[in-house]
Amino acid sequence: MPRDRVTKALIPAAGRGTRFLPITKVVPKELLPIVSTPALEFVVAEASRNRLTDVILVVNEGKAAIADYFAPHPELEAVLAAKNDQTALATIKRAANLATIHEVEQLEPRGLGDAIAQGEELAAGGPLAVLLPDDLIDERDDLLEQMLAVYDERGGIVLGLIDVPRAEIRKYGCITPGDSDGDVVAIKDLVEKPQPERAPSTLAIIGRYVLPPEIFAALRETQPGAGGEIQITDAMRQLVRNGMPAHGVVFRGRRYDTGDRLDYMRAVVQLGTRHPQIGAPFTAWLREYVQGLE
Ligand code: G1P
Repeated sequence: MPRDRVTKALIPAAGRGTRFLPITKVVPKELLPIVSTPALEFVVAEASRNRLTDVILVVNEGKAAIADYFAPHPELEAVLAAKNDQTALATIKRAANLATIHEVEQLEPRGLGDAIAQGEELAAGGPLAVLLPDDLIDERDDLLEQMLAVYDERGGIVLGLIDVPRAEIRKYGCITPGDSDGDVVAIKDLVEKPQPERAPSTLAIIGRYVLPPEIFAALRETQPGAGGEIQITDAMRQLVRNGMPAHGVVFRGRRYDTGDRLDYMRAVVQLGTRHPQIGAPFTAWLREYVQGLE
């Protein structure tokens, strides 16, 4: 029987964004702009590019702006059409055309595993890609495309991994590697945020997952783990221990982290230099500015 193709992506967006207060009092962290495009749109575009036609956004009650952003805006469209401003029209229609957007609410912040569990009904028994919106992957180095190809071939769990300095592994889920084939490595076990001296490797899970439908039953049995939260790493560990195949794709491409303020500023500068309109003048200015600092 051919494997079900992955057609759905889940994006957890219910965090409080406390590292970005005060702006996150009124603007969800996922909508903070990279120049003028919300970080979240880059992630939905990544799903769309990989033929994931349905995107499940896990939100909480403070996030109405996210639904607004992905919905059509007929009044604004009419104003821009009357001015025949085709460029602006295309820009505001872009997000709504990327995918069919579904929203589910996570009522309490009980962890990433709990956020993913909210997608069970919409996943409807099929596999699911999970994309964490703090991680932006450069479209020239499409990790998800590679991961979906591995899923097609091998099924089970497929994770995006990066090799990190040992001291940093405490910030991530970590895997015990088995055999590898190029950048694809078999996963024998997983642990969430280990102490560096006890970590089984320096291979860290980044925010890209392909998960089989069995993940939801495993999540129901998962007790709170690291930080008192329901961890997706613990649910995956249970599946792996029960014989579910699991592989990681070690990513060596360009990735922009927007998880904290310093990372976010780096991402804005890096992606700003590549912006189709302002990239060239911004880069020229940046060169001069940096020389002035030296
Ligand atoms: C989560 C996961 C962790 C993973 C990380 C990737 O942690 O629990 O396993 O390595 O995302 O960004 P968080 O960053 O939410 O603490």
